[in-house]
Formats: sequence, C-alpha cells, structure tokens
Amino acid sequence: MKKFLLTLAAACLVTTTSFAAQGDMTLPPPNLNAKLSVTEALNQRMSSRNFVDKNLSPAQLSKILWAANGINRENGKRVNPAALGVYSVEVYAVTREGIYLYDPDNYKLKLIAEGDFRATTTTGQSFVSKAALNLVYVETPDAWANAKHTPPPRDRQIAFANIAVGSMVQSVALAAQTEGLGNCVRGSINRDEFKKVAKLSDDKTILLAQSVGYIK
Ligand SMILES: Cc1cc2nc3c(=O)[nH]c(=O)nc-3n(C[C@H](O)[C@H](O)[C@H](O)COP(=O)(O)O)c2cc1C
Repeated sequence: MKKFLLTLAAACLVTTTSFAAQGDMTLPPPNLNAKLSVTEALNQRMSSRNFVDKNLSPAQLSKILWAANGINRENGKRVNPAALGVYSVEVYAVTREGIYLYDPDNYKLKLIAEGDFRATTTTGQSFVSKAALNLVYVETPDAWANAKHTPPPRDRQIAFANIAVGSMVQSVALAAQTEGLGNCVRGSINRDEFKKVAKLSDDKTILLAQSVGYIK
C-alpha cells in the first residue's frame, strides 16, 4: 500500500510539475519521427473537445510548436508558408503553468505571465481549461518592418496572416494526431481579456486559438 501511494504521489508530481513555470524554457529539438503517415493523420483529423488535464511532455510540446511556427530550413524559412516570406504570426502557448511566447529560432518558450490563464483563451467553452496546451495565433505588424517588398495595406496584411494561420492550425492538427493527441481550432476567444493577460500591444490582432491535449 505504502509503495502504491508513493508511486501515485510520484506520478502526480510528474503530471503537475513536468512543465512548471520556471521562467523561460528551452525545448528539445522536435522529433520528426511518427508512426502515422500524413494521409493516415489526415484521415483521422477531427475536432476534439473531450480533453484530460494532463501535461504534455517537453518533446510533445516541441513537436506541436514546431508544427505551428517552426523553422524547417537552413535559410530560416518555416514549416508553414507566409505571404512575401514575412512571418507576421506569433504563437502563444497557454498552459496550466503560464503564458509563453514561442521563439522558433532556438525552440524557446519565453515566459510572459505565470499562472493558469487557459480560460482567458475562450468565451466560455469549458473544455479549454482542460486542454494541456492552448495555442493563440497573434498577428504582429512589426514583422513587416524588415520586409524586402513594399508592405501591402493593413487589411491585406491581416488577410495574409489569417491564411497563414489556416496552414499553421492544420500542421498542428496533423502533428497532434501523430502523438495521439486531440485538437480543436477555436475562433471564439475572449480577446480583450487575453490581450490584457498576455500583455499584447494594441497594434496586435488575435486571430485564432487551438486547444491541444490528451483526450478521453
Ligand atoms: C475558423 C474556425 C473557427 C472555429 N471556432 C470554433 C470554436 O470557437 N469552438 C469550437 O468548439 N470549435 C470551433 N471550430 C471547429 C469547428 O466547429 C469544426 O471544425 C466543425 O464543426 C467541423 O468538425 P470537425 O473539425 O470535427 O471536422 C472552428 C473551426 C474553424 C475552422
């Protein structure tokens, strides 16, 4: 009995502290191996809303975030396409432990706010607070400052960013599938609240969210 309780306590410790907010984090490089083929993953794609509140491993987090906004070539270009090669979408990772900004250059998660803010990424869908990871896709106009071409008007910049996010969420859906994780793309976000807690400047636009996690 004592051994069982000790094992249970250790298991609880692993699930609750494996991703504790300890400032910025460096994730391992993504593991690109998968047992599932792309077409099998496509065949299984669906929205899941029956999440279990269990943290993802650093390797799973790394794979999902790389699929969302990672770099896949020496020249710095990314997994997902972006109009005029301008990567104007930032990805925020909202977990039980905090809000982080993903830095694709070195698989880093920069801590923005400590605490469980998952509920601020929805307007009231209760499953969101159980999903281990809620990604929030945010358009940032700063990205156009160093563009090689003349930037398009603001409304077209936003349209381009929305199109890029379509690719990003599908990449995440497929990567999640290879880990046996569920996902749900979400347009219904408490934008005012998230903007506040994630300390987003007024020029940034919240485009979409996506819950990822273990499912029942
Ligand atoms: C742009 C967009 C916004 C969505 N917003 C939500 C949302 O806020 N909440 C939700 O539960 N599902 C949301 N969904 C998921 C759709 O409801 C879902 O994709 C649709 O019902 C088809 O089901 P399937 O994904 O299982 O094929 C959204 C999907 C898209 C593409």
